[in-house]
Amino acid sequence: MTILTILPASNPLVHKKSKRVARIDKSIHKLLDDMLETMRAAGGVGLAAPQVGVLLRVIVIETPDEGLFELVNPEIIKAAGERVVEEGCLCLPGYIGEIKRSETVKAKGVDRDGREVRIKADDLLAEALEHEIDHLNGILFVDHLESMDKLRKLEPQPVTHEASNEE
Ligand code: CO
Repeated sequence: MTILTILPASNPLVHKKSKRVARIDKSIHKLLDDMLETMRAAGGVGLAAPQVGVLLRVIVIETPDEGLFELVNPEIIKAAGERVVEEGCLCLPGYIGEIKRSETVKAKGVDRDGREVRIKADDLLAEALEHEIDHLNGILFVDHLESMDKLRKLEPQPVTHEASNEE
């Protein structure tokens, strides 16, 4: 497995629409493997193929509660409710924004063996499905911001120095 480079939001590729996968072959399996390793190395909850420069409809998501999802040609088939979430993206490290997402989502796609997968999701998994499927349409979370003051820069973690003797 290979850790791939995650493109920054300034790269035009992450704003393009991705193509459907016509056939799941070894190259798609390798892509899924590499995306999973890349996502884990970056500490992310999800990753979409265009974020690593591959314009194909492939995503991976891993949440602490729901485990791992590898989805090819995923789509949202139903979304209900509305809630405000604070969201970030591996293409835009150091920023989080307040946006609206659905409360519950039904999604479908196929797994690496070409079997249909249907997912009923709420909470973090619903948010991740919407976020990653947005990526396949060239949409970043910042495109959902109502205004730029809903975006904030995370302060770098302060470096802890050993206490000095000085008072
Ligand atoms: Co993202």
